[in-house]
Amino acid sequence: LQLQDVKRTCCEFLESQLHPINCLGIRAFADMHACTDLLNKANTYAEQHFSDVILSEEFLNLGVEQVCSLISSDKLTIASEEKVFEAVIAWVNHDKDVRQELMARLMEHVRLPLLSREYLVQRVEEETLVKNSSACKDYLIEAMKYHLLPTEQRALMKSTRTRLRTPVSLPKLMMVVGGQAPKAIRSVECYDFKEERWHQVAELPSRRCRAGMVYMGGLVFAVGGFNGSLRVRTVDSYDPVKDQWTSVANMQDRRSTLGAAVLNGLLYAVGGFDGSTGLSSVEAYNMKTNEWYHVAPMNTRRSSVGVGVVGGMLYAVGGYDGASRQCLSTVECYNSSTNEWTYVAEMSTRRSGAGVGVLNNLLYAVGGHDGPLVRKSVEVYDPATNTWRQVADMNMCRRNAGVCAVYGLLYVVGGDDGSCNLSTVEYYNPTTDKWTVVSSCMSTGRSYAGVTVIDKPL
Ligand SMILES: *[C@@H]1O[C@H](CO)[C@@H](O)[C@H](O)[C@H]1NC(C)=O
Ligand SMILES: *[C@@H]1O[C@H](CO)[C@@H](O)[C@H](O)[C@H]1NC(C)=O
Ligand SMILES: *[C@@H]1O[C@H](CO)[C@@H](O)[C@H](O)[C@H]1NC(C)=O
Repeated sequence: LQLQDVKRTCCEFLESQLHPINCLGIRAFADMHACTDLLNKANTYAEQHFSDVILSEEFLNLGVEQVCSLISSDKLTIASEEKVFEAVIAWVNHDKDVRQELMARLMEHVRLPLLSREYLVQRVEEETLVKNSSACKDYLIEAMKYHLLPTEQRALMKSTRTRLRTPVSLPKLMMVVGGQAPKAIRSVECYDFKEERWHQVAELPSRRCRAGMVYMGGLVFAVGGFNGSLRVRTVDSYDPVKDQWTSVANMQDRRSTLGAAVLNGLLYAVGGFDGSTGLSSVEAYNMKTNEWYHVAPMNTRRSSVGVGVVGGMLYAVGGYDGASRQCLSTVECYNSSTNEWTYVAEMSTRRSGAGVGVLNNLLYAVGGHDGPLVRKSVEVYDPATNTWRQVADMNMCRRNAGVCAVYGLLYVVGGDDGSCNLSTVEYYNPTTDKWTVVSSCMSTGRSYAGVTVIDKPL
């Protein structure tokens, strides 16, 4: 009986510790000790955080049965089936000599027909592990056949691999970190989309504004910025499950008004201002090794730069060039496999301190300023056509606002309009081409805050 109690306490404790980095371990524990409740929760958690879970060491050390059971789930939450394919390749490559035999068993659960033709031809067909297995080539043929069929006949194909995954949508929070109000602050608040209200969470360890902000591997990273007296290279990470901040490795360079984004599992810090000049330098952070290192610099120095990732490329938009003392309309993009920055089409206007966000594979540049003129205009870039076009104006002029995309909408948070720091939030709906002001405001007006969307902790 006592043992039963210990087991229950243990399971309850582990349930409160669910996290993308350890949920597979908890799942294995629950399975072994027949903790059905915990097992169900850990399973659901792993499905809902699949993209983060596959970055963990535990994923690479799973047995083949466990990988199959995870990737065969209809409930996997993924932006695209590409994640499942990449996860299988990463798992096999982790112990290639032994695991390449298992390719066919794994690929049975990868829904290749749901991938784009381009991806099938450029990535899947080119993969040596696929080339070396005739069963895998059969799966590829099945996918090609699916694409060749007229849409109405596709439904007749009897295969589990043509079935769409149907994830249960995760509740999200929008997190607003630090900022200027009017000086650098420590306050952090979260907006609950379902309850439509704001609440405070753990404050930053030290004052920070003009920082870069991303959500990666289940953690929020606040990168660099200005602490009220100095531009800093420090980085703090927040664990939403523990409601706790910890510092991680410093960047190489001091930067404020930088851009931060996640590309292929790495965190990039782009440009910014070190206190004397605008920066063209760029560095990347590897979460597994806790290390920052420089990659190729941009072609242009950019402080107050906005960044976003679309189609596997990192875009740096506008900003301010310390050398020519001009606000910029130019845009460049970074390919991590070639380590090169290339200019793409310019915006129609100069924007420094624009909010940049990505929605439906399009890159939005929102507001910003050119000299004293603060903009309410918004333009959007389509990488497929390399063109910018104007969309509806925001309700308010904003520069140095935070931007994030969630539930098919683009949110713009705070910023300043040239005279006031704003506490309002508005969102853009691309299907109606309309901006709507959210009825609930932040507790304080803030510009230069970091904004990101996170999964609501259980
Ligand atoms: C707003 O923030 C700016 C810095 O972004 C600061 O200089 C200014 O004093 C603030 N204005 C108000 C009204 O708080
Ligand atoms: C800002 O950062 C510097 C260097 O890290 C530190 O010495 C200073 O105390 C910080 N200032 C504030 C106000 O936190
Ligand atoms: C990056 O460049 C390589 C080599 O030119 C190319 O094969 C690859 O498709 C590019 N990546 C993206 C995301 O476009």
